[in-house]
Amino acid sequence: MVKEDLFAARAELPDLAHVEQLRRLLHEHAHRYYVLDEPSIPDAEYDRLFQELQAIELQHPELLTPDSPTQRVGGKVLDQFASVRHAVPMLSIRTETDTQASGARNFDARVRRELGLDESAPVLEYVAEPKFDGLAINLRYRRGVLVQAATRGDGEVGEDVTQNIRTIGQIPLRLPAAAPAVLEVRGEVYMRRDDFETLNQKQRERDQKTFVNPRNAAAGAVRQLDPAIAAQRPLSFFAYGLGEVTPADAGGPEFDTHWDLLQTLKSWGFPVSSLVTKAQGATELIAYHESIARLRDGLGFDIDGVVYKVNSLALQRRLGFVTREPRWAVAHKFPAQEQLTTVLAIDVQVGRTGKLTPVAKLAPVFVGGVTVTNATLHNEDEARRKDVRVGDTVIVRRAGDVIPEVVSVVLPAPSEPSRRGPIFTMPRQCPVCGSTAVREEGEVDYRCSGGLFCSAQRKQAILHFAQRRAVEVEGLGEKLVDQLVDGDVIRVLPDLYRLGITSLASLDRMADKSAQNLVDALQKSKQTTLPRFLFGLGIRHVGEATAKELARHFGRLDAIMDASVEQLLQVADIGPIVAQSVRTFFDQTHNREVVEQLRACGVSWPEGAAAPVTPKPLSGKTFVITGTLPTMSRDEAKDLIEAAGGKVAGSVSKKTTFVVAGSEAGSKLDKARELGVAVLDEAGLKELLNGGS
Ligand code: IVH
Repeated sequence: MVKEDLFAARAELPDLAHVEQLRRLLHEHAHRYYVLDEPSIPDAEYDRLFQELQAIELQHPELLTPDSPTQRVGGKVLDQFASVRHAVPMLSIRTETDTQASGARNFDARVRRELGLDESAPVLEYVAEPKFDGLAINLRYRRGVLVQAATRGDGEVGEDVTQNIRTIGQIPLRLPAAAPAVLEVRGEVYMRRDDFETLNQKQRERDQKTFVNPRNAAAGAVRQLDPAIAAQRPLSFFAYGLGEVTPADAGGPEFDTHWDLLQTLKSWGFPVSSLVTKAQGATELIAYHESIARLRDGLGFDIDGVVYKVNSLALQRRLGFVTREPRWAVAHKFPAQEQLTTVLAIDVQVGRTGKLTPVAKLAPVFVGGVTVTNATLHNEDEARRKDVRVGDTVIVRRAGDVIPEVVSVVLPAPSEPSRRGPIFTMPRQCPVCGSTAVREEGEVDYRCSGGLFCSAQRKQAILHFAQRRAVEVEGLGEKLVDQLVDGDVIRVLPDLYRLGITSLASLDRMADKSAQNLVDALQKSKQTTLPRFLFGLGIRHVGEATAKELARHFGRLDAIMDASVEQLLQVADIGPIVAQSVRTFFDQTHNREVVEQLRACGVSWPEGAAAPVTPKPLSGKTFVITGTLPTMSRDEAKDLIEAAGGKVAGSVSKKTTFVVAGSEAGSKLDKARELGVAVLDEAGLKELLNGGS
C-alpha cells in the first residue's frame, strides 16, 4: 500500500525539464509564426504542445510563471488601468509638416548646423523608418521576462495595459539569455489592414459598431478593460527604440548606432520593419521619403510619413533635446489621405452616356493634398451599403490620383440624438431632363433615357467632342458650354459650327475678342483626323485606342457606319460588346444625322483605304462550352472566343469545331464524343487563343 502511494505521488510530479522544454518550444514557434512569418510546424502540432502545457499548469498552479506562453490570455476584467510612471520619459518627435523634399533637406541642414559641421564635412548617416500609424507602447522586461506594458500617456505617466499587450503574438514574453537584466523596448502597436477589414466584417455580422480606421481599432483594443475582448482584436507590433536599459558598466549592452540597436532587438525576437534602412545625407532621405510614399497604398498597414534618426548614438547625445523632442529625429509626413467632414447634400450627376452617379456634397476639407468638396458614392448599391445620408459625419479618402470617395459613415453614439436624413434612393427620373431613369438587368447603374434630349448629356457630349484628345476646340470650357446649352444657343453638336460672332458676343462675360478666338478655334478644329472624330462622337466603349483601330481597319467613316457586327468583330481587339455598341450607335438616325451635318459644316479628315484584313485566329470556328472551367466563367470564355473571331453555340452538332469541357460536363461532352468533335480543356482553349493550332 505504502509503496503504491509513493509511486502514484511520484508519477504526478511533472518533469520540470519537460515543462521548460514545452515553454521553450512554444516561444520559439510563436516567434517563427508571428514575427518571422515562417512557421516550421503545423498549427495542430502547436496546439497540441500548448494544450499539454496548459494541462500541466492546471494541475500544478505552483509551476505557473508570468512568461508562460499560456499566459497571453486570461487576465481579469479591470475597473480601470493602473498608472505607470515611465523610468525614461517617452518623447515625441518633431514633425516636419513640409511634405516636400525640402522637409528632409531642412532637417539635415539643421542637424549639421547644430553639430557645427561645415560644407566640407562628410555626409551624415541616418536611419530612415516608416512612421507607423498606431500607438506607442513601452515594454518592460526584467531578467528576460515581460513584466509590464504601458501606453505613452502624457510621456511621463502612462497606463498599465500589460494584460492586453500579452495577447499580441508578435511580442515576446521571454527573451534570450543575452538580454540585459532591465530592458525597455519601445515601439508601435498597430492593426494590419486585412485584420482590420476582418474585424469590421465580424462586427457587422454581430450588429456591433465598426471601427473608423486601423489606428482607432488598435487603440480601442489596447485600452480594452476586458482582456478576453482585447485578445480577439488582432494586433501587431514594430520595435523602434529603447527606454530604460541596464547601463553598460552594470553589464548592460553597448550600442554605437541606432542601426545596431535595431539589429540586436531583432535578434532578441522583436519585429523590426524590413522597410527600415540606413540613409546617407539629405539625398538618400529624400529618395526614401519618395519611395515609401509610392509603396504606401500597397503596404499591409497604415503609415503617415517616415522618421529620420541620426544613426550615431554619440551624435544623438551631443544633439540632445529641445523640450520634449530630440534634436536628432524628425517625422517627415505624407499628405493625409483621410479626413472627417459632413455631408451637406447628395446630388445625382448625369454623365455623357446618361449614367447617373450619386455624389456627396461635402463641407470643404483638405485631404490628400487638395481641398475636396465632392466625393463619389459610385452608384445606388454603394450609397446604400455605406448608408451615407445628409447630415452624416463621414471619412473621405483621396489616395493617389483617384477621385475622392466616402469610406464610411461615423455613426453618432446611440444615446446622441440623430439628425440623419433619409436613406438614399436613386430618383426614377433624370434630375436634369425628367426622362425615365432605367437600370438594366445585371447593371449597377441607372441611366437617363433622354439621350441628347437631356441637356446634361448634351453638355457632356459637346465637351467630349471639343476636348484636346478629340477634335480640339481650344477655349470651349465647361462654363461656356453651360451657357450655350442652357441659353438654347446650341441644341445639337453641329450647332457649334453655326455659331456666329454676334450670338457669341451676346453671351455673359464674352468679349468680342474671345468670341473671335472661339470662332477661330472652331474653324481650326474642322481639319481633323478620322480617329479623333470617331472618338469625339462619344460612342459607348469606344475610347481613343479603339477609335484608332477602327479607323485603321476600315479606312473610311462610311465603311464603319455600315459595318455589320461580324465585320466589326474582325477588327483587332474588338469584342462583341464594343461591336454591338458601334452598331447600335449608327443604327440611330439622329446619330447619322449629326455626322452628316458635321460634314456639311466642313468638318473633314483625310480618308484612307481599308487595311488588309488579317484573319483572326478563330474565324470560322464554332465552339460549345460545357461544364465548369477551372479559372474562367463560361461568359469570359465566350467573350474571348468571340473576340478572337470564333462563334459560340449552345448545342453540339456536326458543325461544331470544338467542345470546350470543364468539370462536370454532361451530355454535351457525350454528344461530342459520339459525333467525333474535338474536345478541349481550358488550357487547350488558351493555347488556341494565343495562336496555337
Ligand atoms: S521614435 C524620440 N520611430 O510617433 C523618438 N516613433 O511623435 C521616439 N512613431 O508616439 C519615437 N513610428 O508612436 C519613432 N519609426 C518610429 C515611429 C514612431 C511611429 C510614433 C510613436 C510616437 C510618435 C512620436
